[in-house]
Amino acid sequence: MPKGNSSKLCAKDFGENFVWGVATAAHQIEGAYDKHNKGKSIWDAFSLKKGNIYQNQNGNISCDFYHRYKEDILLMKSMGIQNFRFSISWTRILPNGVGKINEKGIQFYNDVINFCLKCDITPWVTLYHWDLPQVLEEQGGWVNRKILEWFKEYVTVCATSFGDRVKNWMVLNEPMVFTGAGYFLGVHAPGKKGLKQFLPAVHHAVLCQAIGGRVLRSLVNNANIGTTFSCSQITPYSTKKKDIVAAKKADAILNRLFIEPSLGMGYPLEDVPVLKRILKFLEPEDKENSVFNFDFIGVQNYTREVVKHSFLVPYLRAKIIKASKRNVKKTLMDWEVYPPSLYNMIVHFNSYPNVKKVIITENGAAFTDAVIDNKIKDEDRKAYLEDCVKEVKRARGKGFKVDGYFVWTFTDNFEWAEGYYPRFGLVHVDFKTQKRRIKDSGFWYSRLITST
Ligand code: BGC
Repeated sequence: MPKGNSSKLCAKDFGENFVWGVATAAHQIEGAYDKHNKGKSIWDAFSLKKGNIYQNQNGNISCDFYHRYKEDILLMKSMGIQNFRFSISWTRILPNGVGKINEKGIQFYNDVINFCLKCDITPWVTLYHWDLPQVLEEQGGWVNRKILEWFKEYVTVCATSFGDRVKNWMVLNEPMVFTGAGYFLGVHAPGKKGLKQFLPAVHHAVLCQAIGGRVLRSLVNNANIGTTFSCSQITPYSTKKKDIVAAKKADAILNRLFIEPSLGMGYPLEDVPVLKRILKFLEPEDKENSVFNFDFIGVQNYTREVVKHSFLVPYLRAKIIKASKRNVKKTLMDWEVYPPSLYNMIVHFNSYPNVKKVIITENGAAFTDAVIDNKIKDEDRKAYLEDCVKEVKRARGKGFKVDGYFVWTFTDNFEWAEGYYPRFGLVHVDFKTQKRRIKDSGFWYSRLITST
């Protein structure tokens, strides 16, 4: 690896068992959207509709990881990356969502897993990173309670096919984002809107979170089972009582809605009265069945949110004031650059007595990369990641549990509704040629995690 200024951070300060890795998701990297009998996912369908995605782009080819996984895993190895988080595409292994298994899909993930292991890279597998089978969406998707059975079948196939070699599992990726953006705001697949869609989707995701955990526990020996949550420090816009109340509601929705039922605490109904409407979707024993004793909680943080009272926002009466309206340093996603948020989220998840372990399963930033003399200069990303890793160190220093850190993401990829515009990768991808080039941030991360 090329040498450069070594950062003051050193991997050994985090202890030998600290997990350093990179995170990705199937639909964002694989491409090969219809290869070898793969079925259509909600993102394949959503991307077909004009106006849904930036410049009407799609994940059909993306970074073509399906065909280039060896090259990418070897690149990881050359950078000293020992943990690779990726997700399984449901429709690659069950093209119809349930029923007949597609052996070619199983083969692909076997190949990826086996190649990781050959390269001494530990696979960390997410079961669901937002790409629901479109055939299931046509029957209501997450809004239909039948998802409990569909999901159980899917997890069973994954656990029995890969559980002999994969020990680290995450059940869901950010349920708040896929229910909120996909079933309330309609800006992500499947593009549904409103509380009537959102509340049952939330409740079914909460149940599936626990169902997935139980299936893995029963079928995989020595499994390390987690699930992941998006989260952001919430700051009230002012000291006015109205803004403080608005911030509290946003905090309940964005940071507590999915973890608390899994810990047996139920939904945060006191702080968000409109959530009481979710109770009508609860069947006997749902509260007990929402609980699962996860081995770790995956914390995913990118920014903080500043929240103000707003009479115009129905149900919540609270709105997020974007970074661009506050004149603060921001990323291409219009997210404030605010590393202490990561520290505060570690503290938040540590505050639940039943959380056994915390791992940062995603953290990263999208900035414009400058290509100078064939080098990728991304000082802003490097600085952000470095500051965030310092926040992790600070939290550990104060005795909070946090035992791993995964950068989002390895290569630039398909950033959902924003298409290929915001680049989050440690490795630059030229989407015309598929050429990979390690960015300065990638060299920095490599030096950090291999430092002794
Ligand atoms: C998601 C990723 C996404 C990243 C950046 C997270 O919400 O898990 O899929 O690319 O944030 O937006």
